Amino acid sequence: MEVKRRKGKGEWEASSHRKEEQRKSKSISLGRPRCKLCLLVTLVSVLLSLVLIAILPTPIDPVIIDLGGIKSKSFGGNAYLREAIRLFDGEIKGPEGFAIDGDGNMYTGLHDGRIVLFNDTHMTTVMRMGPPPYDNCGKLTSESHCGRVLGLEISQSDPYLLYICDCYHGIQTLHLKTGHREVLVNTTATYPGVPPIKFSNDMVVLKNGSVFFTDSSYKFARNELLMEMYEGRPNGKLLHYNPTDGTVSVAIGELHFANGVCASKDESFLIISETSRSRILKYHLKGPKTGQTEIFMNELPGVPDNISPSSKPGGGFWIGFALLRNEALEVLGHFPAIRNVFVKLRLTRLIAESLPRNGLIMECDESGTVIRELYDMGGVKIPSVSEVLDLNGVLYLGSYDGTYIGKLDFSNK
Ligand SMILES: *[C@@H]1O[C@H](CO)[C@@H](O)[C@H](O)[C@H]1NC(C)=O
Ligand SMILES: *[C@@H]1O[C@H](CO)[C@@H](O)[C@H](O)[C@H]1NC(C)=O
Ligand SMILES: *[C@@H]1O[C@H](CO)[C@@H](O)[C@H](O)[C@H]1NC(C)=O
Repeated sequence: MEVKRRKGKGEWEASSHRKEEQRKSKSISLGRPRCKLCLLVTLVSVLLSLVLIAILPTPIDPVIIDLGGIKSKSFGGNAYLREAIRLFDGEIKGPEGFAIDGDGNMYTGLHDGRIVLFNDTHMTTVMRMGPPPYDNCGKLTSESHCGRVLGLEISQSDPYLLYICDCYHGIQTLHLKTGHREVLVNTTATYPGVPPIKFSNDMVVLKNGSVFFTDSSYKFARNELLMEMYEGRPNGKLLHYNPTDGTVSVAIGELHFANGVCASKDESFLIISETSRSRILKYHLKGPKTGQTEIFMNELPGVPDNISPSSKPGGGFWIGFALLRNEALEVLGHFPAIRNVFVKLRLTRLIAESLPRNGLIMECDESGTVIRELYDMGGVKIPSVSEVLDLNGVLYLGSYDGTYIGKLDFSNK
């Protein structure tokens, strides 16, 4: 019995060993050509994809974007912005640009081309930028028709004269009492010596009626904003509209995504944000440096959007940030070829939507020294800010894509 069993076991062992040998040899004899084939197929696919990607058209000619280090008092180190409340939450989209008239009424521009008057509880439409029909307004595809207001200002000589900067319909005024509307700068027309104005973004109206406004790009309109960001070239400019003769001239050329613009309290200088460079420039309007440009703040912790006056007696500014800087942005910045592939594969929106959302507003004095940074890491309440309206420390917060107006009472802080 024992011998038999042992023998049996040996036989079983031997046969199973043989089967395994057979299996091995089978897999070797079949596997070699199969792997050769898959390798070949893989190689050809990769090569073909690379060739396809290479020959796909691209509208951008991207360059390296080096933002340098990050200067911050305490990067992400507080949650003050989370103390904000949301007004009209879910009822509106993209409030950007704020103005306040002689009666204390507040105005903002919305994603669907409307200018609205609002207080904390009510909102009414004042005007629509584009002509009818309005059926499709609120979609990116109809934006150029419906209009998109990005900057609002009240005249310093008439508290009911509203200046409007629309990125498709140019610089206009609306008289809030008479309803009279006027086009000051027709951005589809050509002005001698001025490159095309494709993306008028923000403006400042001086006491004498002069308007300085930014054009983010001569190449891409707002509905192609990501292309402008991905290209990273100095396609923008600061323009000057002279009200005495209606002329438009270039004040500063070759700006990197020129965006927010604001004047110092005494109007001796302007500051202009260069969104794709995370920095803010200073442009002298008075004194020996008149007409000259220098860096006001650089290596900012985020991507700056609009700039508005602080209510501090000594002046100063509030800077809204569309995004905080993060590793993904740094990598994208240093590898233009990767950005180009994303553009070719139409992945830019997906990438933009998957970037982390962290809110930040920053207050600085007129010398560019940071006074405070208010964060909302994780974007719990306020994931991005396009503009701050500071009413004696009560802050209203716009956002280019937010579905609310933020309000933060910071008057006791
Ligand atoms: C807000 O506006 C509405 C409509 O004009 C008005 O009835 C309401 O009293 C206003 N609220 C405040 C706090 O002023
Ligand atoms: C703006 O300029 C374009 C091109 O010259 C012209 O067709 C259009 O009528 C002008 N719009 C206004 C409001 O003047
Ligand atoms: C208004 O003031 C600004 C800044 O000082 C100056 O550049 C501009 O030429 C003035 N405009 C007019 C129309 O006087």
